[in-house]
Amino acid sequence: MRDVTLVDLYDHHITQKFVNRSGMAHAICCAYHAFDLALIHHVHPDLAAKAAFLHDIGHFTWYKDGKWDYSLYKAYDIHAIKGAERAHKLLIRLGEHPRNAKEIALAVLLHTDSYLPHGHLELKPLQHVVALADEADEEPKGRHHYRKIDDKTARDWLQSLDRKIDAYLSDQKTS
Ligand SMILES: [Fe+2]
Repeated sequence: MRDVTLVDLYDHHITQKFVNRSGMAHAICCAYHAFDLALIHHVHPDLAAKAAFLHDIGHFTWYKDGKWDYSLYKAYDIHAIKGAERAHKLLIRLGEHPRNAKEIALAVLLHTDSYLPHGHLELKPLQHVVALADEADEEPKGRHHYRKIDDKTARDWLQSLDRKIDAYLSDQKTS
């Protein structure tokens, strides 16, 4: 039994406000990629799917004269830092175990190295899976942030991923 489902996250107004800003369709696709990758990399699929779903929750829209300004984003963006904190607060509010909330927040923090000084980061498997899930759904010129999905489809997809995660976890218990 999971403390927090993807649909619980989706239904929260904080998720609606911030994940819609960075792209709900992208977040959901990443959660699906993360589930598949988690099974390959022997990572907990529930944590991977939730971290991937929330990975861009810290995004800010860098606009100049009504248009996205990539140079402003490159220079000043800290979305992974903001996202880690925001995801952690949201998960704790919804009743996630603090151990899981920390693992998910760290995976959000490290899903990109675009804001970090150059150097080599040794990622844990969960963090690696979330970074791979994000890459798997990326489109040129950040177009993945603008793909649309309607509310009903978004909720249905997350509900069906919740069912896949529950089925996997109950299989693990009985085997
Ligand atoms: Fe992303």
